[in-house]
This record gives sequence, structure tokens and C-alpha cells, in this order.
Amino acid sequence: MKDPERFIEEKVAEIEEADGKAVVGCSGGVDSTVSAVIASRALGEDLLAIYVDTGYMRKNETEDIKSLFRDMDINHRIIDASEEFYEAMEGIDDPEEKRKVIGNKFIEVFEREAEKFDADYLVQGTIAPDWIESGDENRDTIKSHHNVGGLPEEMGLGLIEPLYDLYKDEVREVAEELGLPTAEKQPFPGPGLAIRVMGEATPKRTEIVREACHIVETEIEEAASKGEMERPWQYFAVLLPVKTVGVQGDKRAYGHTIAIRAVHSTDAMTANFSKIPLEVLDRISTKITNQMRNEVNRVVYDVTNKPPGTIEWE
Ligand code: XMP
Repeated sequence: MKDPERFIEEKVAEIEEADGKAVVGCSGGVDSTVSAVIASRALGEDLLAIYVDTGYMRKNETEDIKSLFRDMDINHRIIDASEEFYEAMEGIDDPEEKRKVIGNKFIEVFEREAEKFDADYLVQGTIAPDWIESGDENRDTIKSHHNVGGLPEEMGLGLIEPLYDLYKDEVREVAEELGLPTAEKQPFPGPGLAIRVMGEATPKRTEIVREACHIVETEIEEAASKGEMERPWQYFAVLLPVKTVGVQGDKRAYGHTIAIRAVHSTDAMTANFSKIPLEVLDRISTKITNQMRNEVNRVVYDVTNKPPGTIEWE
């Protein structure tokens, strides 16, 4: 991109033309964050960034978003909807059903907040590959009508898509110009940790996988930063539905099993399991079973490629 500063100025000027208030859903991804910052510069208090805590977020995710909103001076609302999500997920153990319940609940909560704010527009972080694939040729930043991709059309909101013509590397240049963190983040699925708890994703089981995911992430990132290994494309923990026998001190224990998953991939269509050094696996396993000694007494490593396995376990 020739001039990111000029791009930002132009988009801000375009969005200033919008007549009314706008909402944007932000979960920390670079596209939606950059869109939110640009829209916020144009609309000030007339923009509301909404973050929905589904209860299936990673450790510290909500806190990180909060400080990002504050640092960027974006008008925002953090909705702790975890109780509502947990309740909706009670008794549900089928992976596709989980996705459906979480997707619907998300729309319900988001819509409720957008209505409270009396929004006229929805800001979306759509980038060029998103619409090139779906064949859309409407190239304006502000549209009165739209396909909001998941959010129900009856919301009747106009669309603001400041990054419509950009590719990922250009978005990163703009992010840099805005002073946003641009480090490549690993992908995180929309349904969040719910699909990393095999079976019913109760609050308690989710808490276990949240802690285990945090340990896997921090240990792998530290090992990668020390040059012990390459940072995998995606890496996380899965809570299995099996308990196994172990020893705790001199007593018999019966605890949960955690699987570590780490893969290399370029497009998520195929993937190879990461050949993590055994010393790193050893540290992860020891940390999980020490820090979570009352819950987890066994850790295994997934050595399956995709295909035949998928990256996630559900
Ligand atoms: P699989 O498990 O199908 O995952 O090999 C491929 C990539 O997609 C992510 N993933 C999802 N992302 N909603 C999402 O937004 C989902 O329901 C979902 N399921 C899987 C997964 O993390 C991986 O990066």
C-alpha cells in the first residue's frame, strides 16, 4: 500500500458521511479492530464497539480487549453473557448443535445491544478475499443494503466496510499506522473453547480447558521465542471425555485427560501435526499436571495430520 495514512484519512472522511449511529462487533481480530478504530475516528460516540463474552473465551481475552478499547479511545460495551451461554448449552454434547446454539445466542445478544444503542449501521471487517470468493461486486464503503453474513438481515442495518478493497498484508500496514498490535495471531474458532471440551461444555469443564489452553499457549510461545522450535500455526488443549487412574502423592487418583494439539498449516484445509521437541512437551505436561493437580492427571499429544483428522477435535 502506497500511503496508509492517506487511506485512513479517506475512509474516515467517507464514514463521516454516514447519517446515524453504528455498531461493530469486536473479538480482537485484526480486521474488525482496524475497522472499529477507523469508524471510531469518524463517528466518535456515535460508534459503539460491542464485545460479547460468551464464557468460551480464552484466558485474559476479555481483559486484553478492554485495554485495547481504552488505549484506542473507542466507545465500547463489554457484555458478560457467559451465564446466558452456559445455560443455553446445558445438556448439549453434539458438536454441530453446540455451534448452532452459540451462533444463535451470539446474534441474539448482539442484536439486543445494537437495538439498545439505536444503531443505523453495522461496521464489518470484510476484506477483499471475503467478497472475491463470494463474487460480490459492490465496492462502496457505505452501503444501504447488504448481506451481513450471519447477522440477520431483518436487523435492517446499513453496512460500513472500510477495508473492503484491502488484502491482509495491507490491513496489517494500516494497523501499524494506527498503532495497533500487528503480530500474527493464531486462528481461534467462533464457538471458542466450547468445541475444545468434548461433550457438554459446562462452566467447570470449560474452566479446565481454558487453563490448559493457556499453559499450552504460553509454553509454546516461550519455546518459539527462545528458538527451541518454530511457532506452530495453531496450538491448543482439548479436554477429553475420559478419566484415567493416576497417583497423587501416595494416593490413587482418578482425573481428567488433556490432549495437546499443535499443527502447521497454510490455509487450514490440510495440516501436519507439529514436531514439538520432547523437552517442550515435557514442560507442558508437567506444568498442566502440577498446576491442575486436582483435575488433570494425564496429558497426551495428538500426532494426527489433516486429513484424516481435523484440526479441532469437534
Ligand atoms: P478443522 O477443525 O475443521 O478447522 O480442521 C479448520 C480451522 O477452522 C477453525 N474452526 C472454526 N472456526 N467456527 C470458526 O470460526 C467454527 O465452527 C470452526 N471450527 C473450526 C479451526 O480452529 C481451524 O483453524
